[in-house]
Amino acid sequence: MEKKWKRYTITAALPYANGGIHLGHLAGAYLPADTYSRYRRLKGDDILYICGSDEHGVPITLGARKEGITPQQFVDKYHSLMKNSFEEFGISFDIYSRTSNKIHHETAQQFFLDLYKKGVFTEETSQQLYDEQEKMFLADRYIMGICPVCANEKAYGDQCEKCGSSLSPKELKNPVSVLSGNVPVMKETKHWYLPLQNYEPWLREWILENHKDDWKTNVYGQCKSWLNGGLHPRAMTRDLDWGVRVPLPDSEHKVLYVWFDAPIGYISATKELRPNDWEKYWKDKDSQLIHFIGKDNIVFHCIIFPTILQAHGDYIIPDNVPANEFLNLEGEKLSTSRNWAVWLHDYLKDFPGMQDTLRYVLTSIAPETKDSDFTWKDFQDRHNNELVAILGNFVNRTMVLTHKFYDGKIPVCGNLNQNDHALLDAIKIVQQTISESLEKFRFREALQLLMNLARTGNKYLTDNEPWKIFKSNEERCATVMYLSIEITTYLAQLMQPFLPNAAEKTLAMLNLPKKNWNTELKGQLIESGHQLNEAALIFRKIEDEEIAAQIEKLNANQKEVVIEPESSPPKTVIAKAIINYDDFSKLELSVGIITAAEKVKKADKLLQLQVDIGTEIRTIVSGIAEHYTPEDIIGQQVCIVANLAPRKIKGIESKGMILMAEDENGKLKFIMPSEAMKAGSKIS
Ligand code: MF3
Ligand code: ZN
Repeated sequence: MEKKWKRYTITAALPYANGGIHLGHLAGAYLPADTYSRYRRLKGDDILYICGSDEHGVPITLGARKEGITPQQFVDKYHSLMKNSFEEFGISFDIYSRTSNKIHHETAQQFFLDLYKKGVFTEETSQQLYDEQEKMFLADRYIMGICPVCANEKAYGDQCEKCGSSLSPKELKNPVSVLSGNVPVMKETKHWYLPLQNYEPWLREWILENHKDDWKTNVYGQCKSWLNGGLHPRAMTRDLDWGVRVPLPDSEHKVLYVWFDAPIGYISATKELRPNDWEKYWKDKDSQLIHFIGKDNIVFHCIIFPTILQAHGDYIIPDNVPANEFLNLEGEKLSTSRNWAVWLHDYLKDFPGMQDTLRYVLTSIAPETKDSDFTWKDFQDRHNNELVAILGNFVNRTMVLTHKFYDGKIPVCGNLNQNDHALLDAIKIVQQTISESLEKFRFREALQLLMNLARTGNKYLTDNEPWKIFKSNEERCATVMYLSIEITTYLAQLMQPFLPNAAEKTLAMLNLPKKNWNTELKGQLIESGHQLNEAALIFRKIEDEEIAAQIEKLNANQKEVVIEPESSPPKTVIAKAIINYDDFSKLELSVGIITAAEKVKKADKLLQLQVDIGTEIRTIVSGIAEHYTPEDIIGQQVCIVANLAPRKIKGIESKGMILMAEDENGKLKFIMPSEAMKAGSKIS
């Protein structure tokens, strides 16, 4: 049986205050949660949409260190950046708070004490990784190493971002301090642990049994694999100076684990917003708690935080956690360190007044069931071919014709024919079907249903051609226009959760107020004789140059960065700038065979080679003399770059380059095809 909820507590993951908001964040959590919250408000439901900045944890202290400012200065800066861009974009949080607030520190400390007094934690003194040079324990992201599960070489001490495993620093193979690059030593320290394993039976029943059917498969699947992997005690405190102090004696340099304090931030923000009745949103069994997050947050919102809430005993646990997968950008994983991202504050500057376009595109391609890809070309296409050509066009045609024929007064509806009845049927079900999709968190589908109504409207106008019968059949023309205005009105109302600005503009043109989604969006919404306001376009076209500029900006701003670790431990990788296929296809690569080799005089590292490339024998000078002797490599198959501009090296003209692979000791090895091939074979 469907449960009837009295109120809704809707949260979106508190973003780390260590950068801006990018499209991946929006598509993952903030936009779907916003659409959902707007929908609930239109229904007249009692809802709170809660968010704020996550200002603790290693991502913050590392960021501050990099910028050479204090953690507080650092979070102040990014908190306002994020808050402002959310606001300007129109995310309708009821509150956007922050975890460095006093009320949050107090709430989190009290929560910890409650659990402590209940005897929930186990106290353990153990050996932890310690950086002797920096004189600090290495928690979470202060440490990197090889993931024990998937062998990813850049796993963090708390989580492997590649396979999603949640880790503890000691599980990493070959751990390295992110601060100094040193191999850490072991040192004794005391911490408080949440014995997750004791809650396993409860978690299994709650998630695997009770939410088999209503949780998204990606979320359910991840939970199942964690539960099957076995749960272990997890430390809820850290040896750090930035964060919420552990409220116990002898804990001077200890703070709460960021994943303990941050989700409690949802509660503190609610308290801040509703000091008198916040409790009903968190303790009343009739309140539905929903966490909107990205997939990297699943374990924290489905296993750890619910266990904390359950262990406390006074709180409700989430009813659903509709986590999204990731959004890629132009076929590549988003990366803030490489600056491969579209930042919301940039978008708002470059496309003023076009918030709805971004909402539309990100909802259309929402990574609901699998990762999806944002490209600027697709952004333009969806805007021009769908928003402008379908939705905007229908609204505009209807408005303009009504003004032209009837001076903007809604005409009288005459007799209805079969076509009209079909249209009314389409209208009748659309509110219902959109609601159903939204309540299942299927935002893409819901938006499609809305657009289909606009398509139906366009087809209706085209089929009935009111402009042709205005003179010859006044009654029919009036009926067609009446029904077109009726669809426009439905569209304007139903657009609200998805495209709030366009909805507002359209309602203003229609000279009509918002209606309650539940009680007022049925039957006929308009009346003959009602005066419409002036017609105006709701969307403008996006030009090719605007898109070209965005792509150029993306490529130009991309950084060649040393991916963490910050200083250079052995495994540092230089990520080069992304090239597109056109860049790659400029290379002419082919198989060659070395036919002669000799040392270059007065150059220890160089060999002068003759390489058969099928059509000719090339002279190539190569820096491999320390790795190969001339007599060993006659007849060797190699890969060469055949169209490299000739270069003079030690007076010899070298025409091409040999590709080499470098092992961990810096030794160079030839790269060659897996089987012998003819000289001149193309490589692509
Ligand atoms: N700051 C985390 C992130 O960006 C999300 C925290 S969600 C909360 O991944 F529940 F802890 F608040
Ligand atoms: Zn892994």
